[in-house]
Amino acid sequence: MTDSPSQPIPDLLNVLLVGSGGREHALAWRLSQSPRLGKLFVEQNAHPGLLALGTACPEDLGARNRFNLERWLTREQIGFVVVGPEVPLAEGLADRLATPHRPVFGPVKAAARIESDKAFAKTLMRQTSIPTGEGRAFTSLDAALAYVTERDEPCVVKAAGLCAGKGVSVCETREQAITAVRACMDTRQFGDAGQTVVIEERLEGQEVSLLALVDGRTITLLDTVQDHKQVGEGDKGPNTGGMGTICPTPLLGDEELKTVAREVFVPAVDGLRRQGIEYRGVLFAGLMLTPAGPKVLEFNCRFGDPETQVLMARFQGDLLETLWLTAQGRLAEAQFSFDPRPACCVVVCSAGYPASARSGDPIEGLGATLPRTCDSGVIFQAGTRATKSGEIVTSGGRVAGATCLGEDLADACARATALAESVRFSGAFFRRDIGSRLIRKTVSGG
Ligand code: AMP
Ligand code: GLY
Repeated sequence: MTDSPSQPIPDLLNVLLVGSGGREHALAWRLSQSPRLGKLFVEQNAHPGLLALGTACPEDLGARNRFNLERWLTREQIGFVVVGPEVPLAEGLADRLATPHRPVFGPVKAAARIESDKAFAKTLMRQTSIPTGEGRAFTSLDAALAYVTERDEPCVVKAAGLCAGKGVSVCETREQAITAVRACMDTRQFGDAGQTVVIEERLEGQEVSLLALVDGRTITLLDTVQDHKQVGEGDKGPNTGGMGTICPTPLLGDEELKTVAREVFVPAVDGLRRQGIEYRGVLFAGLMLTPAGPKVLEFNCRFGDPETQVLMARFQGDLLETLWLTAQGRLAEAQFSFDPRPACCVVVCSAGYPASARSGDPIEGLGATLPRTCDSGVIFQAGTRATKSGEIVTSGGRVAGATCLGEDLADACARATALAESVRFSGAFFRRDIGSRLIRKTVSGG
């Protein structure tokens, strides 16, 4: 894409938002508040929450419909495309749709590899001395099995490709590691995504999600978020896509954030640029705060889910303008801040999640429209759909994210938990301890 630094930000932009989860509902909510938004288009089969804020795009965004899609984008005068999920980015949607007059927010395929290929990310981290767990990539089953059999320390086995957060096994024992390697490379539980595995040392500590807007050169860190990956209270049970988030966290001070910017984000963006790859969009580092300092667990090429729900609850500014400036290589001109009040998002899930998810249960309490501010709390929809008669029912594991601001973290979490109670459907469950790890830390000062 060519930079056009003198091009004024259009007064009115028609926007296509790709993706249909809780993250996209939160993005659409803030985009809708921009005075620059003309028409907002969402995906053809978007959930009812998104359809209440936008118009369904008549075209399937899949590769086969390339010609129709481009004709439709031109006909509707779409001036900006915002891509939420990693899969279309990894498939090259940004490369396909971007033109000098139609920027796309989200990295090109080569840059999205930082998420879609964990072996590539590990090599980049090694080449640029980004702190991360010791690890190696394997393409041979026998070599991977020999490696885990020889190791005494606990390890983590990761399918290198995209698996919707399910391809990572944190292993306690050698037997678990062998099973995880076999699941990826022998029984091919994750298909091609598990053809290559990355096996790395198991790190201990608190996890933090740190997201940054990146416009090719300028990197602006957003406030820190903590996700709760495990399905059960007290961090028990299998990993999920994320059961709840809090923002900001007291885990990284200003000096530590500067260090992470210098040691993680700058080398990642510069390292890609040296390979001829310009990174534009959100760069999301999943960090483990180890006794030896923050180390990168993974990079993502997109906003987090449910990290975005709490970030958007606190976002102050014009999101459309901010994302457009980022996509145009002009992030330095963007002006935004975060509400000083902390936010908490509690994800309400359907029975069986994460192993399976029951669908079709009628949902009560989603609220008709989203309020303009988050003061009284806001419920972002995710796994929902409307039946022919207009009833909203569950459609997936993570159904909705109850999101609240509070006077302090404990207040935000109590409010979000109470709001989650109001989302009712058969088999609904959620964690009541979102944020409790850090509430204890804040109260005890430890
Ligand atoms: P990833 O998709 O690589 O972030 O992994 C998903 C989750 O697995 C992370 O959020 C961590 O909870 C856990 N995990 C990943 N890598 C490691 C590691 N090296 N040590 C301990 N836990 C890890
Ligand atoms: N919540 C973690 C992720 O979006 O990857």
